[in-house]
Amino acid sequence: MAWKTLDDMDLAGKRVLTRVDINVPVENGKVTDTTRIERIAATVQDILDRGGKPVLLAHFGRPKGERNPDMSLQPLIPALEAVFGTSVVFAADCAGPAAAAVVDALQEGQVALLENTRFHAGETKNDADLAAEMAKLGDIYCNDAFSAAHRAHASTEGLARLLPACAGRLMQAELSALESALGTPERPVLAVVGGAKVSTKLELLGNLVSKVDMLVIGGGMANTFLAAQGIDVGKSLCEHDMTDTASEILGKAKEAGCEIILPSDVVVAREFKEGAENETVAANACPADAMILDAGPEAVKAVQAAIESAKTLIWNGPLGAFEIAPFDTATNAAAKYAAERSEGGQLVSVAGGGDTVAALNKAEAAGDFTYISTAGGAFLEWMEGKELPGVAALG
Ligand code: 3PG
Ligand code: MG
Repeated sequence: MAWKTLDDMDLAGKRVLTRVDINVPVENGKVTDTTRIERIAATVQDILDRGGKPVLLAHFGRPKGERNPDMSLQPLIPALEAVFGTSVVFAADCAGPAAAAVVDALQEGQVALLENTRFHAGETKNDADLAAEMAKLGDIYCNDAFSAAHRAHASTEGLARLLPACAGRLMQAELSALESALGTPERPVLAVVGGAKVSTKLELLGNLVSKVDMLVIGGGMANTFLAAQGIDVGKSLCEHDMTDTASEILGKAKEAGCEIILPSDVVVAREFKEGAENETVAANACPADAMILDAGPEAVKAVQAAIESAKTLIWNGPLGAFEIAPFDTATNAAAKYAAERSEGGQLVSVAGGGDTVAALNKAEAAGDFTYISTAGGAFLEWMEGKELPGVAALG
């Protein structure tokens, strides 16, 4: 790799400012999925084992540069302590005297956690003064936040230029796994992209059609593509102002020779609720008072056929409203089939993104995927061949 790792650094007695991504789901003050915490544990342990002092920098949510008690990192402490097996000391700021006091008093074997970097407006602006203030708290900078590496922020980018910098263990693992699975992927390559909105994944879809051989569009964003073809989607989630853009993407795909797979049948209901009464109809026959909540059985067969013909699969986003049964049916069936092909060695499969990993876990399919990334946005930008500022700054 083109950058240093923890192996290249002398950590003994050093304060290691470590950027992590612990932007984890929390409900009623409790962490509901600890995947991201577990995946940074090796880095924290390595620093501790070699006599270094880990000082964790992280963001949480999108507080827009203001202190917001609902987005404090403090409630994560019990989950961090449980995973790391050591005490975690909290500082109420990520820069300035409050942070310095905690870092100065840190004992060997302890971990420091600094408050949400995004409480400072300078964080997302990659402000040089904020980066310089944070740099005073460390001797070495270690970036272990691959899933935030698509952001050029003070703690992910600016800081890397101010201290001797290296990649953490998770950063290394993510980059080498993605490179080995997808660097020169075996064709045909299939991408499954789902989720609610076309608008958030527009640029990605436009770029992906020139990189992959087949593209399954699922979830709410499929409705926008159906609407773009003049189909009435009733009360379905649909970005009607994005239909021109969806048509452009379809045109681009045709030019590039990328096959687009949209659902041919759909499961519709009148209520968005677990167990809601539902029926399966052709994709162009959604009743005016109903909404599409999942792909139908014919659509699932088409997705499975695409998986069967593919050598490489990239997955981001569920195919339906997977949080509420039975509208998780299509996602589960496709995920199980991809897992089976991967386990049998016929498919290299990589998935990323919070919702996606939750859906694959629910389908009990995640374990058989070739690789599961902690990243959503960063994984997709990496896929598109974009330079990730957080990674580039380490070089
Ligand atoms: C994520 O959870 O996707 C990463 O932590 C990045 O968060 P962001 O999209 O708010 O920058
Ligand atoms: Mg995100």
